[in-house]
Amino acid sequence: VSVATIIDGKAVAARVRQEVARGVAEFAAEVGEPPGLATILVGDDPASEIYVANKQKACAEVGIRGVDLRLVADVSQDAVAEEIEALNDDPLVSGILLQIPVPDHLDGDALAALIDPAKDVDGLTPLSAGALAQGRPGLRPCTPQGIVELLDAYDVPLEGAEAVVVGRSRLIGRPLAFLLLERNATVTLCHSRTRDLPAVCARADVLVAAVGSPRLLGGDAVRPGAAVIDVGINRLQDGLVGDVDFEAASQRAGLITPVPGGVGPMTIACLLRNTLQAARARHGAAPVR
Ligand SMILES: NC(=O)c1ccc[n+]([C@@H]2O[C@H](COP(=O)([O-])OP(=O)(O)OC[C@H]3O[C@@H](n4cnc5c(N)ncnc54)[C@H](OP(=O)(O)O)[C@@H]3O)[C@@H](O)[C@H]2O)c1
Repeated sequence: VSVATIIDGKAVAARVRQEVARGVAEFAAEVGEPPGLATILVGDDPASEIYVANKQKACAEVGIRGVDLRLVADVSQDAVAEEIEALNDDPLVSGILLQIPVPDHLDGDALAALIDPAKDVDGLTPLSAGALAQGRPGLRPCTPQGIVELLDAYDVPLEGAEAVVVGRSRLIGRPLAFLLLERNATVTLCHSRTRDLPAVCARADVLVAAVGSPRLLGGDAVRPGAAVIDVGINRLQDGLVGDVDFEAASQRAGLITPVPGGVGPMTIACLLRNTLQAARARHGAAPVR
């Protein structure tokens, strides 16, 4: 039985961060100011607080100036909108990220849509999503970008490949499908109504699971030799598990990401890179890549 190579997301992410740190230093030397990333956290959800703290820490490590905006849970829609508009106008802020979810009384979509597309480092505004769907340049969502980067780091061919993505969320599945299409893969997008999911998945040269259902995909969903990317993060009593049954799938896959340590580390690395890219674009420089 062959056993898959384990994709080391931490190592690839560390490489991306190093590149970004170099780019940030160059940018700061040229422009006189480092790129800036503003995060907006509304309320005190403990998980969101950890995510935002990690993003701010990652900024500091590569020399990006962090702006850590905290708003009380019962802040009004208009007040958040004003903060976003102020950040849009702030020349020291290259990227803006509204941490989701926001409290129920706020319309998170409407707020995110106010972010200047040139500063939309999460790539989630309608304009950024539309640009991606139409194959035009723009800032791309971080997790999907990180997934493509992992595949590239391990030389997985995408052109002409059968790529199957399970999950069609705005955050992951949908934008990833377009990124893979941009790379000339033949893309199938699966979801909760897909008939015979394992059989569809088993066609894949590149299989990506972004569902949020512990060990949904077993060995029968994996074509021998396939590259398997598991985006799922599910908290069980025995720890974190992905959407793929790692034990079974790694007996058949050629390459597979672990959970944790696979896709996760790439998300923040790509956020940092998007921030640098946004800063460079503002100053008329060529985009990072
Ligand atoms: N590694 C990272 O950096 C990172 C970042 C963000 C999220 N995540 C994780 O990634 C996972 C997905 O996140 P998300 O935000 O995309 O989730 P989401 O918005 O809940 O979307 C889940 C998708 O999975 C589909 N689905 C649900 N049950 C299914 C089933 N039995 N068979 C096939 N498809 C099914 C849904 O289909 P319908 O559209 O038909 O409902 C939906 O499209 C979560 O575990 C999340 O924690 C990881």
